[in-house]
Amino acid sequence: MSLVTPMVIFQGDLATAIHELAKCKHGVALTGAGLSLASGIPTFRGKGGLWEKYDPLVYAHIQCFLHEPEKLWQMQKELLDVILPAKPNKAHEALVTMERMKRLACIITQNVDGLHTVAGSLNVLEFHGNKRRLVCLNCSNRYPSERYLEQCPPRCECGAILKPDVVLFGEQIPIDVLMRSRSEASQADLLLVAGTSAVVSPASDIPILAKNSGCFIIEINPEITPLTGYVSDLFLQGPTEEILPMLVEGLQSKTNSDRTP
Ligand code: OAD
Repeated sequence: MSLVTPMVIFQGDLATAIHELAKCKHGVALTGAGLSLASGIPTFRGKGGLWEKYDPLVYAHIQCFLHEPEKLWQMQKELLDVILPAKPNKAHEALVTMERMKRLACIITQNVDGLHTVAGSLNVLEFHGNKRRLVCLNCSNRYPSERYLEQCPPRCECGAILKPDVVLFGEQIPIDVLMRSRSEASQADLLLVAGTSAVVSPASDIPILAKNSGCFIIEINPEITPLTGYVSDLFLQGPTEEILPMLVEGLQSKTNSDRTP
């Protein structure tokens, strides 16, 4: 396990990761905000993170939306201005290729930017929802987020203020997404945990659930997390936009060399 040398990927670790990816029967990825940083979307924690500027319990709590929706929209506007024009980066693209190569059955993402789907990944479970949609808590109508460009805070045809279609603090994860994610985690024989601090439950329970079912866990992050060295079998230290394309390249050369007579 390479915990010490920052930004140096040991070739042996890379080779092990490629070997495990090449032989897995049910690969799953769990992704977080670090994966979209190279697309210009800030992470939540750490230096420059969104929660440094906005207290999530004030600005991203369901009670805030119910009692002071204008306040919640103050932060939402700033985020949507970044998310809506953002483009997928090399990490998203690498995961699309892995799915096409049948190395990934599914992506469970905590990200609300919708970039996995924009990139072309097909089987994506959006654990915390998607900011590209707005929802009315009064009549359940949904709209594309572009509506906020016309009025902020945006309103539903029924008159109620719309909420970004994401899970706010104090809200439950939608039960279908929770159950499907747990089912994927318990079937997985390989889990790629990429760009997440792994501190927000219940998403942070997914690697533990997978591990308890005998899954091999590969973690990719420039920083260590509570999983590193305890739950992760392999830690590839560095940015996902560099490491995931390396894994794809390795998988492609392995496939080509396996085909050579
Ligand atoms: P965090 O902001 O908690 O963590 C981001 C992680 O990305 C950190 O571990 C960084 O070290 C890592 N990171 C930074 N740059 C990276 C890069 N280039 N490549 C890979 N990793 C990098 O974000 P999440 O773990 O996604 O929930 O946060 C989980 C949840 O907490 C979010 O979905 C959000 C937040 O509160 C809700 O809003 C419900």
